[in-house]
Amino acid sequence: MNLPFAESYKIKVVESIKRSTQEQRLGWIKDAKYNLFNLRSEQVFIDLLTDSGTGAMSQNQWAEIMMGDESYAGASSYYKLKDAIKEILGFDHFLPTHQGRAAENVLFSVLVKEGNLIPGNSQFDTTKGHIEFRKASSCDCTIDEAFETTNLNPFKGDVDLNKLEKVMKENPAEKIPFIIMTVTCNSSGGQPVSMANLRAVYSLAQKYNKMVIFDSARFAENAYFIKLREEGYKDKSIKEIVKEMYQYADAMTMSSKKDAIVNIGGFIAMKDENLFKQASVFNIIYEGFITYGGMAGRDMAALAQGLHEGTEFDYLETRIKQVAYLGQKLVDYGIPIQHPFGGHAIFVDAKKFLPKVPKEEFAAQTLGIELYKEAGVRGVEIGTLLADRDPVTRKNRYPDLELLRLAIPRRTYTNNHMDVVAAGLINVFDRRNSITSGYRILSEAPIMRHFTVELEKI
Ligand code: F0G
Repeated sequence: MNLPFAESYKIKVVESIKRSTQEQRLGWIKDAKYNLFNLRSEQVFIDLLTDSGTGAMSQNQWAEIMMGDESYAGASSYYKLKDAIKEILGFDHFLPTHQGRAAENVLFSVLVKEGNLIPGNSQFDTTKGHIEFRKASSCDCTIDEAFETTNLNPFKGDVDLNKLEKVMKENPAEKIPFIIMTVTCNSSGGQPVSMANLRAVYSLAQKYNKMVIFDSARFAENAYFIKLREEGYKDKSIKEIVKEMYQYADAMTMSSKKDAIVNIGGFIAMKDENLFKQASVFNIIYEGFITYGGMAGRDMAALAQGLHEGTEFDYLETRIKQVAYLGQKLVDYGIPIQHPFGGHAIFVDAKKFLPKVPKEEFAAQTLGIELYKEAGVRGVEIGTLLADRDPVTRKNRYPDLELLRLAIPRRTYTNNHMDVVAAGLINVFDRRNSITSGYRILSEAPIMRHFTVELEKI
């Protein structure tokens, strides 16, 4: 008999989670104004809201927490992180920030001006938010296949080079400060970018004398997919693949809460010393001195260790196979999801799941609420609420995909939990024809409304 696959770790510390009744959940979600962000964590049994900062640190990371150097300037933990970034990602210069969006804020304070246009693959909402906040705009050049959920293209995070070149040709050079590539591409379903595409984007950028910046939250998962799916990489280690990926970037922003498996933290890294110096000014204003930038020494130390662990094949295989385990259960039941399975999450196609809910009534949010009521499982809407209003016309933007994301925290839940998630969604699927209406907005913030929006049932 072949030995089955099993996790590449064992569990040393556990945390209790609370079950609840459907009746309790109906009351809680109503009190939360039908916004899953407003629920208290005790009201959730399995929390798939995000894989950001919700993973389990290893014993070696916890050991690093004890070893953290809390000196204001020049802490040894800072140098440990600097060495890890140099060794794994290849950058000489870096600035710690308290999380990914802070890295965006600091770097874009240097690079983004009013009226700018920033192309790339689909940008994450904080990236877009920081661009639009500066009265600039982003331009999504992702391949069209990414928006067809049943298309099996192995690299749905890729940019369409023709679209990208058209943007470069049709706009004055000074309007485009850089290209941004999000690896993996969260907004298109945790989908990877191929090495060939990264290479081609970089060479196009060089032709037009533009910088390329990687939004790197899930860079290691991206490398894992390159190893498995792209010709010529199967015998390369994840660390070798990562090294090659970053040959095609001039700078990066990082939310360390994902692939570096820490609960908080981020950084910017760059090749150009001059850019480092300019960004240092904003880092000091917004984040902290350049050798801690909003992080405790202990958190930088755990992050350095996380970068090493997060780029190990065994860890990544365990992680991504768990996501696929959940995905396969849903597919086997005929539930429509984004294919192929993402690296950090399964994205359920809410338009196909709940075709009777009009787009003005937020189908993905409706599905998320139904799943919570059914099983105490919390996912997150990646659809019209998240897409926000157009900054100029203030009209709702209706994205091509209306998705419910089930993001799996790293090293946190077992496959028994995945079975519960699948059963909950299957039960909702069985009664999908009875769900014909959704929600309307009672109040919303002017930007990034999904976090705080208040809804009522129609
Ligand atoms: N870039 C990507 C691709 C992200 O997924 C995130 C966060 C950020 C930047 C911002 O990083 O949260 O550390 O400030 N994504 C989380 C998520 C919130 O749930 O996908 P942050």
